[in-house]
Formats: sequence, C-alpha cells, structure tokens
Amino acid sequence: MSTPVMHGTANKTFDIAWVREQFPSLKLQVNGHAAAFLDGPAGTQVPKQVMDAVQNYFVGANANTYGAFLTSRRNDETIRSARAAMADFFNCDSNEVVFGQNMTTITFALARAIGRELKAGDEIVVTTLDHDANVAPWRALEEKGVVIRQVDVRESDCTLDLNDLKRKISSKTKLVAVGYASNMVGTINPVAEITKLAHAAGALMFIDAVHYAPHGLIDVKSLDCDFLVCSPYKFFGPHMGILYGKREYLEKFKPYKVRPATNTSPESWETGTQVQELIAGIGAAVDYIAELGRHCDPSVKRRREALQTAYRAAHQYETGLLSRLIAGLQTIPGVKMFGITHAKRFDERCATLSFRLGGHHPTEIATFLGERGIFTWDGNFYALNLSDVNSLQGDKRPGPLLGSAQSHS
Ligand SMILES: Cc1ncc(COP(=O)(O)O)c(C=O)c1O
Repeated sequence: MSTPVMHGTANKTFDIAWVREQFPSLKLQVNGHAAAFLDGPAGTQVPKQVMDAVQNYFVGANANTYGAFLTSRRNDETIRSARAAMADFFNCDSNEVVFGQNMTTITFALARAIGRELKAGDEIVVTTLDHDANVAPWRALEEKGVVIRQVDVRESDCTLDLNDLKRKISSKTKLVAVGYASNMVGTINPVAEITKLAHAAGALMFIDAVHYAPHGLIDVKSLDCDFLVCSPYKFFGPHMGILYGKREYLEKFKPYKVRPATNTSPESWETGTQVQELIAGIGAAVDYIAELGRHCDPSVKRRREALQTAYRAAHQYETGLLSRLIAGLQTIPGVKMFGITHAKRFDERCATLSFRLGGHHPTEIATFLGERGIFTWDGNFYALNLSDVNSLQGDKRPGPLLGSAQSHS
C-alpha cells in the first residue's frame, strides 16, 4: 500500500552543477568547510530568481491592490501570475489558490470557518504522525464539543496504522486531516486512498502537504482532496503558506473577515493586505522549478510538464543521496534510525531521516555537525504526537535528531 513519490518513464539528468549555480547561499563556508544544508525540512535555500522577483516587486510594482495606476496594476498582475503558477503546481484552477502567512495560520483560519458549521458530537480524525499544525487547529474545535479521534502509528516503521484509521472514520466524521509526508521520519501516507475512505463516510479530506511539496509533485485533481496546504519556503520560495480548496468549499465555508473586504473567493480568504513582495517570490519559485525541468529536458513546453520533469529528475537524485546517507549511518556503531530504511520501500518515504546516536543528546550531535558546516535539526520538530511515542524517546532525552538529504542541498 504505497504512494509512489514519482511515476514516469523519462528520467532526465539532474544537473547538480547548474542547480548549485542558482543558489548564491550555497557558497557559505563554516570553519573552512563548505556548508551542507541538511536543514531543508524547516526551510530550503532560495535561488537568485526568487531574490530578483522580490527586489523587482519593490522597484516597479510596490502598491496595494486594485488601484487605477501603474504600480497597483503591476501588483495585481504579480498576484494573478503567482496564482496561475500555483494552479499549475497543484493542478487546479487559479481561483482555488489562497495565499496566507504560513500553513499554521491558514489552517487555524480554515478550521475556524469549518467549525462554524459543526455541532457537538461531530468528529474530526487526526493522526499521531502529523506536525502539530495539522492537529492543534482541529483540536481547538473541542471547545465547541467536536470530538477528535487520533489515528495510531506502527512504531516499527513509523507508518500510519490504516486499520486504526478505518476504525476511527465513521458516519460522525466530518473531516479527516492527514499529512502527505512526515517532517520527522519521512513516511509518505497513502493520501489518495485515505481520501476515498473519508469521502465514503461523507467527510471532507484535508491534506498537509508541507513536507511532501519539496519531494513530490502534488496533483489535487488525482488526489480528489477537498483542501491541501503547503508552504513555499520549503520548496525554494519565500516564507508564506498556500491553501488549495475545491471551489465549492471555498464558496460554501465563510471565513472571518472585515466587512469591506470581498466575499468572492479566493480573495475572501486572504485577510488584510498580503505580503505581496513575497507572493512575487512564490511565482518565481514555481518558475525556477519549471526552469530546472526545461534544463533537464529542453523539449518540454508547458509549465506543468516542466514541473513534472524537474520533480522526476530531483527525485532520482534525492533517492541516491538517501541511499548513501542510510548506508553511511548503518556503518556507525550505536546509530538508530527511525522509519523505513529498506531500499525496497523507498517509494513509501521521502529523503528525510531522523536518527539517534548512542547516549549522545541530539543537540550535542547537531552542534558537532554544525561546527563542521553540516546543518541538521534536533528537537521534536513540532511533530509532538510522534515525538511522544515511546520507542522514539530513547534514554530519558527527548527528541530524535533529524538530518535531511534533499536535492539542492
Ligand atoms: C509537515 C508540516 N506541517 C506544517 C508545518 C507548519 O508550516 P508553517 O511553518 O508554514 O506554518 C510544518 C513546518 O515545519 C511542517 O513540516
């Protein structure tokens, strides 16, 4: 029961030298060592195309929306074009793309809006594998009597227990909230299959694709999910969040908003003035990935096709890095890795890995590596339910250590 990260026949070459040239920050040195950015799960580096787009916005398009003058019109065009870029990225219509501050803020706003329609006794299903940003906003609805059911993980390989999920979805379920991929252990969930289960019970499906988006290309049409969120700062863009919502649901649910603001979606969901300079950067991030696709295969024409080519090539490159990382860690005595490690099951995971090393505190390891230019995270990564699972705790010291093999690092 796997969700392949990338299907496709043609595997074009991933030109790592060209890729590295696009990212000025990759020249960084630490104590004479070239920096290795394995901290990607909390945000990637940014190509110069994105930096230029943000700067150009300030030079020629810096105004608020819908004014009758040049810079305002350019700003409107910047937002329209970023929405179109994200529509290609998600494979949806432009008016199904909502910009926001970050995934967490968007999800709280959406949960509040959906919560207006729920009553005491209605149920929402969340999971133990998820980042808390896909748990706490739904748990907040407990205040009005909504019941939260939490799906277990199989501790042996850090995958979702689908039998438990089937038990927890019932006719009372109004929404199922599941992550596409775990930011702590890299597990990819079979979200298309879970969407079918949710819909069969009459529930909405909400997918947190924040961690999946840098590793696999999203296709909301084939997933048939009702909502999906991601954060462009995880895929070479600026610090923001983006929501995909099926048009009928963006129209049906009513976000809290000020009276003069439009009632028309998607703008009705975008409270107040947006960080427009960063929206310019989002369009540029998608175009950078498409440019990578065209660099891999110059015969590719349409943007969505270019994105598919780029992701396919990057996936192959990342899988190579992941294999090397796992093989290397396996040679170090005392290393314990979490989640799927067998190459035969790499389709069920992305290239994000957590491990512990003997009795060492994770911060000690991260500091040691950091001094040598290798950037990794230590802590619970806000995947609070998962970090509470006993077998991930180790000897009295909370929080596994995470390193991430990711293309562009
Ligand atoms: C899987 C996952 N979901 C949600 C979030 C929260 O995203 P944001 O920082 O955009 O609120 C993160 C952030 O690390 C994440 O990794």
